[in-house]
Amino acid sequence: MPLDLGDLGFDQGGSLLVKRALRPLSTGEELTLAGTDPNLQVHLRAWCRAEGHEFRALDGGSSVVLKGTATDARWSGAERAGHADPSQRDAVSDSPPQRWGLAARGALVESGAPEFHFALTEKTEVWSADAVRLYAQAASAQWDPATAIPWNAAFELPDEVEDAVVQVMTYLVENETAALIVPSRFVAQLHPHFREVMQLLAIQAADEARHIEVFTRRALLKGRQPGLSTAGGQASLQTLVNEPDFATASFLLSVLGEGTFLSLLWFLERYAPDPVTAAVCRLAAQDEARHVAFGMAHLREHIAREPGLIPVLSNAVRRRHDALRHTAGLNAEVFDALVSISAGCWTTDDVRRGYRAVNDLVEEMHAGRTKRLIRLGFSEGEGQELSSLHTRNFM
Ligand SMILES: [Fe+2]
Ligand SMILES: [Fe+2]
Repeated sequence: MPLDLGDLGFDQGGSLLVKRALRPLSTGEELTLAGTDPNLQVHLRAWCRAEGHEFRALDGGSSVVLKGTATDARWSGAERAGHADPSQRDAVSDSPPQRWGLAARGALVESGAPEFHFALTEKTEVWSADAVRLYAQAASAQWDPATAIPWNAAFELPDEVEDAVVQVMTYLVENETAALIVPSRFVAQLHPHFREVMQLLAIQAADEARHIEVFTRRALLKGRQPGLSTAGGQASLQTLVNEPDFATASFLLSVLGEGTFLSLLWFLERYAPDPVTAAVCRLAAQDEARHVAFGMAHLREHIAREPGLIPVLSNAVRRRHDALRHTAGLNAEVFDALVSISAGCWTTDDVRRGYRAVNDLVEEMHAGRTKRLIRLGFSEGEGQELSSLHTRNFM
């Protein structure tokens, strides 16, 4: 069947129709072509030379294209980069090559693509089958800080309670900032072949960006400046920001730190003196639960394949404890602020109740950490010990 381009120029889309007509042909087969565009044969001849096809002009203005082997040869050395659907067998490579680079997983990658230098290329280190589900959950659970929080709710707190809320929010902001930086750093090192993990880390960073926004807005809501930031708190967070190993950083940040923060945020939601504080803590806690779930999921799978990771992680907790031994841990202002918030009033009975509530919170945090450590594969005794060595700064 001859192809008639009518007056459509080869450089105006005609090339697409020529390629489409050539696709089903075998090498050596001919395509006859007609058209009235005055430049058609000039363009077609040049294109055939570049693509390795043979060109022949016929009397009367028609042309013949003899299909060459170059198109097939170009893709003959290409390789399929796994499979897009992670549930397929061998869809996710154990160690994807650097030359697959940014290609979509499952794409046919032409040979000669440039080598990238991603540091995290081992499936054992980063992958979890749960990433697929957790990403979908995270994408559907995104909330808008402008509308999800009752910013205009009418309330007025006693000065000291408002000051306590501002101090806690100030503390939360610096912790959330560490929680944003750590996954952001690793997302840039991760081989994009692990697409769902990449997406999950990116959306986790976006979650933290919202937490920083809403805690800042609550701190400033009544016209005050942010509260205190202590050297001890920053020293604790610096050990997270500086941790170069993905498994260790996830363990310290997501399992131990964010796990501890889950208890803190639900505590603040329960004792919140105003509806804005309650809402920001509830929404952040819901996001944190996913961050903890992913940390637990990929570390459980990693440990199952590499039991030698257990002592590496234990040592990381001990090392961090030693590094922070001479720092104050949780700043006294934050502790006092938590007591003030849960006491609500200043009678001795109220303060005693508030103080007890914060001590119960610290106990609950310890129990939660121990439980998670045991779920990861640590012995009960080691779980208890490591949990008690966790930073007093909570994160
Ligand atoms: Fe957060
Ligand atoms: Fe988080």
